[in-house]
Amino acid sequence: MLSIVILAAGFGTRMKSQTPKVLHTLCGKSMIEYVIDESLKISSDIHIILFNQKEKIISYLKNKYQYYIIDKITFHVQLHDIYPGTGGAFMQENKELIPIKEDKVLVLSADSPMICADSLLPLLQSESAINIATFKTRNPSGYGRIIKEDNTNHVIRIIEEKDCTHTHKKIDEVNGGIYCFNKTILQHYIPLLLNDNAQKEYYLTDVINLFARDSQAIHDKGKNCQGIMACELSEKELMGVNTKAHLAIAQNLMLERVRHRAMLQGVIMDIPESIYLDSSVEFEGECKLENGVRIVGKSKIQNSIIKAHSVIEESEIISSDIGPHAHIRPQCNIQDSHIGNFVECKKAMLKGVKAGHLSYLGDCEINTGSNIGAGVITCNYDGKSKHKTIIGKDVFVGSDCQLVAPVTIKDRVLIAAGSTITHDIPQGVLAIARGKQRNIENGFYKFFDEKE
Ligand code: UD1
Ligand code: MG
Repeated sequence: MLSIVILAAGFGTRMKSQTPKVLHTLCGKSMIEYVIDESLKISSDIHIILFNQKEKIISYLKNKYQYYIIDKITFHVQLHDIYPGTGGAFMQENKELIPIKEDKVLVLSADSPMICADSLLPLLQSESAINIATFKTRNPSGYGRIIKEDNTNHVIRIIEEKDCTHTHKKIDEVNGGIYCFNKTILQHYIPLLLNDNAQKEYYLTDVINLFARDSQAIHDKGKNCQGIMACELSEKELMGVNTKAHLAIAQNLMLERVRHRAMLQGVIMDIPESIYLDSSVEFEGECKLENGVRIVGKSKIQNSIIKAHSVIEESEIISSDIGPHAHIRPQCNIQDSHIGNFVECKKAMLKGVKAGHLSYLGDCEINTGSNIGAGVITCNYDGKSKHKTIIGKDVFVGSDCQLVAPVTIKDRVLIAAGSTITHDIPQGVLAIARGKQRNIENGFYKFFDEKE
């Protein structure tokens, strides 16, 4: 059985943001949620270490997760003033290890959001007392370097960047900041950590260095030693986010994953790298997304085509085609419909509707067989409150009509182009609501002072 500790008590200074670092999002989901969701796949004893902006992070998570998930999470506030550093994160007042249930402890970082539970299996299944996720990189600067016993995966030491000699600096295998420890190791070594370093911090990596030193001593006496194992993972999965530039890189990596998942679910994409999807978007059946599409929030797209440069937010699209250049704003439900270019919808329930061009359809319900002409606007806002437009079946709304809500239009109604509708319309009616046209004889010539 496994306990997980998620480190999230750093200051995130380099993010230069009012928002706590771990609440910054990738594809619409905060970094810490990615780490929690992966953790929940493999453990039900999760500890999150917080300090900076702790209230904000706790209330955000309590809002996001159901109570039965929050029940699996223990929030700890690091005693940062006395015990700063990644090792300090594990200390109670007496320097002893914070209470952790299980015998194996996986340590993750809330600012390393790309990690997948599946990839951690080699760390979790290993018999070694300490397992460290490492990666090889062309740019190791800033990371702790991994020193191994020749030709083995046994780690002898981790050297932090600032303690590196010129030769150490050339080592291209680095500490990914993810570890699996036997709890007894942490119980023994956490209280022994010292902060006798440049930053006056307690380093978690010193647990490894102390254990390595002790086991080397045992080893020298010819006793059996369980050792410290390096498990190499990919740089992409271990990447840490410290700046907004890192955030952009991580977002691109996450986007690749989200798009790939969608394609495996049967989505066709034109120029995939131009398509933005939040990780919460769901697809069903056969769908196609043209270039430049953006779909965010809890949206569901089923058997539909979303044409170039359309934006969809928190809406459901079923058996429909949308765009190009359509904007479907939150809380729309669009079924069996054709929504054409430059149509904006908001809180619209459309079933079997055609709205081909340049419309605003907000706070409305439109039923089967109805056709909305170019430039039709539901006037849903009177400056104080929002009102609803309800349109029945087989209604033909001519071009450039304004429907001043609240207004109800019954089935089989024809509305003449250019009408401003302010009253309900009963079934079967032709409604015309516009100024009468006058043709003034020779008016053109008189106006421009021309001869006929
Ligand atoms: C750490 C490792 C380094 C490794 C790197 C991988 C140490 C001493 N060094 O360095 O070997 O290559 O991660 O990314 O551990 N945190 C706390 N409390 C603190 C300080 C940090 O919870 O007092 C959290 C941070 O929020 C972050 C994580 O621990 O999630 C890592 O901290 P950070 O300061 O970024 O460590 P690095 O200097 O990157
Ligand atoms: Mg870091």
